[in-house]
Amino acid sequence: MTQTLLLLPGDGIGPEVTAAAQRIAELVAPDVTIESALVGGAAIDASDVPLTDETLDRAKRADAVLLGAVGGPKWADVDRDKRPEMGLLGLRKGLDVFANLRPAYCFEALVDASSLKRERIEGLDLMIVRELTSGVYFGQPRGIDTDENGVRRGYDTSVYTAPEIERVTRVAFEIARGRDGRVCSVEKSNVMESGLFWRQEVTALHKTFGEGVELSHMLADACAMELVRNPKQFDVILADNLFGDLLSDEAAMLTGSIGMLPSASLGIEGTPGLFEPVHGSAPDIAGQGLANPCAAILSLEMALRWSLGRPDAADRVMKAVADALKSGAKTRDLGGDMSTTAMTDAIIDCL
Ligand code: NAI
Ligand code: MG
Repeated sequence: MTQTLLLLPGDGIGPEVTAAAQRIAELVAPDVTIESALVGGAAIDASDVPLTDETLDRAKRADAVLLGAVGGPKWADVDRDKRPEMGLLGLRKGLDVFANLRPAYCFEALVDASSLKRERIEGLDLMIVRELTSGVYFGQPRGIDTDENGVRRGYDTSVYTAPEIERVTRVAFEIARGRDGRVCSVEKSNVMESGLFWRQEVTALHKTFGEGVELSHMLADACAMELVRNPKQFDVILADNLFGDLLSDEAAMLTGSIGMLPSASLGIEGTPGLFEPVHGSAPDIAGQGLANPCAAILSLEMALRWSLGRPDAADRVMKAVADALKSGAKTRDLGGDMSTTAMTDAIIDCL
């Protein structure tokens, strides 16, 4: 059966970087059918909504979805529920991608671009697994109102159910088995009941299906410090939605430019994952051929590995990016002067 990769280029530099990823996909996985559809502002312009039902259906039927970026000043004034960003949220919700994977690794050629010393960063390779569809960003009740004493207040609720913790923990353990076999679970069990429950559940799950995985626990604030003190101690970090949001952004900045950072969001096995660069639509450089295509190409690498079952093709892409950087190929954000197309050509030369 042929596999399908659905490209959702989106807005701004999205179409430029997904076009680069498409060129790579056609070379390393020529038998995969590549389709494309509109999302975000581009979809609003065409059909007045950021994500049509038809596009969501196509995403659900695909084997993997590669998104560029959405948003931009052109759509800043549209209603909140019709914003380009709602297209992205609709996709995440519609595909039920509950495990967000954010790797932080350092390419040898970019070691000196880090704000940390070479010895702290050289050889860094960690993966953050963040729960993406529950926790304090979704818990009820939430609101802004006035209490019975007439005092104004704003509140959110952090709730995790056992099945929600179980499914993301499974993903973290599975990923660790293919790496160094270590998972560090992060919460604030010292001050939060939902954090204490998280620790209890992860500990119990480790006993039932944690074979081959070494589990440790760390409080989230300590983890934030350890990430800049000694990031190489980590293999896989498992965190809830809120702490995972903060820690993945922190870890990302250890390794340099936003133009290098991919992400994957996975649902249950057999459903398509959503792969996208961490960066946005970069309206300041859109249409000028200046965007670094690496984040999109490395997102394709994750799609090949996690949804399309092609680890060899993924390894080829990873090595080609590393080799191109080593040969001196760099876009402007990395201190070079290559265009998006020239950078992509350099990576293709290394394939
Ligand atoms: P941004 O990530 O688009 O840009 C931040 C800075 O990084 C800019 O100076 C930009 O030129 C640079 N940059 C980003 N990607 C780059 C690349 N591949 N190569 C070289 N330089 C790159 O974030 P910003 O400016 O806050 O947001 C711009 C728009 O993107 C907004 O409408 C925002 O809502 C949207 N956005 C969308 C996201 C998504 O689709 N997942 C994520 C973040 C923002
Ligand atoms: Mg964030």
